[in-house]
Amino acid sequence: VSLQEMNKIGELEEALREALCIDRVIITGTTGEAATDRKELGFHASKLLQDVVTPGAVIAVSGGSTMAAVAEALPVKRVKPIVIPARGGIGERVEYQANVIASVMADKLQGIYKMLHLPDGLTKESLAILTTMEPQIKEIMELAARTDVLMFGIGEAIHMAEQRHISDAQREDLRRKRAVGEALGYYCDIDGTIVYATNNVGIDFADIGRIAHVIAVAGGAVKARAIIGVMRACHRGTLIIDEAAAEAMMALL
Ligand code: G3H
Repeated sequence: VSLQEMNKIGELEEALREALCIDRVIITGTTGEAATDRKELGFHASKLLQDVVTPGAVIAVSGGSTMAAVAEALPVKRVKPIVIPARGGIGERVEYQANVIASVMADKLQGIYKMLHLPDGLTKESLAILTTMEPQIKEIMELAARTDVLMFGIGEAIHMAEQRHISDAQREDLRRKRAVGEALGYYCDIDGTIVYATNNVGIDFADIGRIAHVIAVAGGAVKARAIIGVMRACHRGTLIIDEAAAEAMMALL
């Protein structure tokens, strides 16, 4: 990478940081090959995670292939954090479930993990019973409330809704409300307004303000709108994206 290219990346990072009103933007390289680009994102995100995590810290992590790449990229290191899934929801491919990613991260960092076995789509009533009666769920909720590092992936709203088998009516509602992005079970439009949230437990978007380290990781030009919407809803944190996403976002801002 030439000095000129590095300057260009630096300027793009600063322009996006300012446009989204967040703390920091890190742009990684793009080859156009999804798995390779994800690996690169995972490497940079895992480096940042190692920089901020301290012994005994609570790390809350979302699901998805990008977070799986972060966990994969972590070296074995004696940090001893407590790793929890940021939200319930066990509908996805097992290796992309937040529970599994939390366990891989905890193993790499020689800490402990807690799992949350709650499917999406529970009624408010069943959720209320589980959250008040189940000690395992209560324990995770307590840990979520004292999260030090939150790390999450960002998905395209309709794509995520399809993967999570939400009803046709709900999907139609998301389209009507112009949902573009999803993170942690929250769906938002391009202005950062949350238009729908899945019923579950864990990190609430409204709590993000009091978490010391918030790190969002996503790549690909197709996610440009999703990233803009989610980061506007988030208002803060470090965003790690690849060059393809960065350029596509810049064209929209
Ligand atoms: O909520 C967002 C998704 O978990 C992102 O998934 O990293 O596989 O695109 P992905």
